[in-house]
Amino acid sequence: MKQTSQFAEAFPALNQHVGDKPLVYLDSAATTQKPQCVIDAVEHYYENDNANIHRGVHQLSMRATKAYEGARSKVASLLGAQSSDEIIFVRGATEAINLVAQAWGRPRLGAGDEVLITEMEHHSNIVPWQLLCEQTGAALKVASVHDDGSLDVDSFKELLGEHTAVAAFAHVSNAIGTVNPVKELCELASAAGAVTIVDGAQATGHMKVDVQSMGCDFYATSGHKMFGPTGIGCLYGKHALLEEMEPWQGGGDMILSVSFEETTWNKVPFKFEAGTPNIAGAIGLGAACDYISGIGYDAIQEVEHELLAYGTDVLSNIDGVTLIGTARQKCAILAFTVDGVHPHDVGTICDHEGVAIRTGNHCAEPLMHRFGLSATCRASLSIYNSPADIDALATAIRKAITMLG
Ligand code: ALA
Repeated sequence: MKQTSQFAEAFPALNQHVGDKPLVYLDSAATTQKPQCVIDAVEHYYENDNANIHRGVHQLSMRATKAYEGARSKVASLLGAQSSDEIIFVRGATEAINLVAQAWGRPRLGAGDEVLITEMEHHSNIVPWQLLCEQTGAALKVASVHDDGSLDVDSFKELLGEHTAVAAFAHVSNAIGTVNPVKELCELASAAGAVTIVDGAQATGHMKVDVQSMGCDFYATSGHKMFGPTGIGCLYGKHALLEEMEPWQGGGDMILSVSFEETTWNKVPFKFEAGTPNIAGAIGLGAACDYISGIGYDAIQEVEHELLAYGTDVLSNIDGVTLIGTARQKCAILAFTVDGVHPHDVGTICDHEGVAIRTGNHCAEPLMHRFGLSATCRASLSIYNSPADIDALATAIRKAITMLG
């Protein structure tokens, strides 16, 4: 395996020192770094085409609209959607899940209905459903996780039944990297008559997603975890479901006509995009889709699998380090604890060595509790990382153990 990544050069932020140490960025699950082509696309829009979309007959507005809608097509194609009408631009996966909970769930659910999630969900795939349950009287059910961090599919099956209205689950766990058998889960849930929503925030920067072959009804993702800007993401929804749903937010662009007596809605997907959207963000996300397509998910997976295997081996061989989440199907995340050293202290010592990791509950507090922990350290990898980055992490961890362990 090469000691440096051939992809690192494209990411300007990686080329810096933290104090006197070269930056080793191992926090891509929190947000990925951005390649120059994404930065350039956003800059190009503001420097040349900045105008509001869908509203103007002037050149700038038409160019901005073309770029924004072009980005929608790129996202649709990357996710394997049937049409770009099935892609709604939102702030990120969190907003996408809230949109489904409120626009699909709230008018339809009531007492006696159930929402099925899993123990490994990010808070953004727990709290919107808790709010929905409070609002409608529906009940929340939670499928459990095995000791290795894989989903207990039997528990998912047992909890699934005629009362399950929605099944919501992560494609990839942000905290421990488990890759769920989403196609199987969608089949099981659909057979039980439930609507499915997959939280793909941690997947789309790493692996091929094909929403049609997966069979999900909704798929949520965030641009900033797939090399795109912050504040932009998308919700994929099957066209028929989006057609049935009432709007979520009211405002400009989501209407066909407004009068004080009656207002009618714009067609899908605009019905769900009230107000001036994050135009620059969408264009940046389109560039991120181009970047990913240019490399190809097969190449991304190859690099990340090798890094994950190397990192698992290196960390497993440090006395006092325990890996949390060792499922067979795993994405490039190394979550771990260090005997006798609080995760935040490990994180601070890593930072002094130039190594950026995340520590804490990773917005997955129930999963931490499942493992009897309040926090872990998390090193999350991407294509720009190299074995040398893992070695730097190992050196920093050893230092933490020597100083505090
Ligand atoms: N959800 C992001 C993470 O996993 C912020 O770190």
